[in-house]
Amino acid sequence: MLKLLLIFILLGLAFGSNNETISWNFGSFIRPKNKSIEFDINFVSPTKSGQYPITIFFTGLDGIAPSFGYKDFLNKLSIETNTILVSFDLLRFPKFPDKEEKLFKSSLDWTLENLNSLFDSNTTPDLIRNRIYPILNGVSLMGHSASGHAIVSYLNETCGKIDKLVLIDPVDGYDPFGFFKIYITNPPVQLPFLTPTLIIRTGLDNVPSNPLFPPCAPEKVSNGRFYESLSGPTWYLNFTQYGHADILDDFLRLPASLICI
Ligand SMILES: *[C@@H]1O[C@H](CO)[C@@H](O)[C@H](O)[C@H]1NC(C)=O
Ligand SMILES: *[C@@H]1O[C@H](CO)[C@@H](O)[C@H](O)[C@H]1NC(C)=O
Ligand SMILES: *[C@@H]1O[C@H](CO)[C@@H](O)[C@H](O)[C@H]1NC(C)=O
Ligand SMILES: *[C@@H]1O[C@H](CO)[C@@H](O)[C@H](O)[C@H]1NC(C)=O
Repeated sequence: MLKLLLIFILLGLAFGSNNETISWNFGSFIRPKNKSIEFDINFVSPTKSGQYPITIFFTGLDGIAPSFGYKDFLNKLSIETNTILVSFDLLRFPKFPDKEEKLFKSSLDWTLENLNSLFDSNTTPDLIRNRIYPILNGVSLMGHSASGHAIVSYLNETCGKIDKLVLIDPVDGYDPFGFFKIYITNPPVQLPFLTPTLIIRTGLDNVPSNPLFPPCAPEKVSNGRFYESLSGPTWYLNFTQYGHADILDDFLRLPASLICI
């Protein structure tokens, strides 16, 4: 019970009655808007005027999974936690020699520096402008699947403004497909940050749905590996009846489930 309470606090839950969100984009899933950023930025915000904490979300497959495929999840999370969600995604395969984590770092730095103006520009919906303000001291960072590698690599270098971490089914490896065996977690070696972390795994992460493909989060390179490498306060939850792709909206979950449950 105490743990559950702490998790709610970790996610910034406030018991408000706000239950509506608005979403908008800076850029598009096909190409980013600004040369300074490498990803599309999608915002999901409560509509009730006020100041809200920020959670940066890096979508699965190093941002190749579109944030519009996480719409239900992001809307509900924004409402339940009274948080503005800022998702990074882009339809692009990893470029060499630019590691995804480098692209992620430069985009994150740019976004946090320009966040106030992103809430007050001509791309910002009228409903938001001069009514909704991001709180910038203390930002949460959240990633799904292979993006766990990129965001933990970011924290391996610097915490920046990040003071909370949420890893959903994190998978390690250089590329989302596991071709290159380059890892950021190497237990029992401990990562050099103490950021409070919530790890959420699904019970079916290690179950292949198709004999032609490995499971989406093979045990050896996923969840437990992160848990064992984190030395700060860490909560490790197992959503036993769920699969790796269940976080996605149905239109994307159904095709994804041909590859993994
Ligand atoms: C929000 O809550 C109000 C009152 O509780 C309800 O009437 C409304 O339908 C809810 N809206 C959504 C989108 O859930
Ligand atoms: C791109 O970012 C730079 C600052 O890094 C800014 O001066 C410029 O206005 C931005 N472009 C757009 C289209 O927002
Ligand atoms: C992580 O940071 C440590 C220093 O704290 C460094 O030695 C190591 O090379 C970094 N790992 C990667 C994969 O960059
Ligand atoms: C998580 O749940 C699944 C399904 O019940 C189980 O197979 C797996 O061992 C559990 N993992 C951990 C670390 O508890």
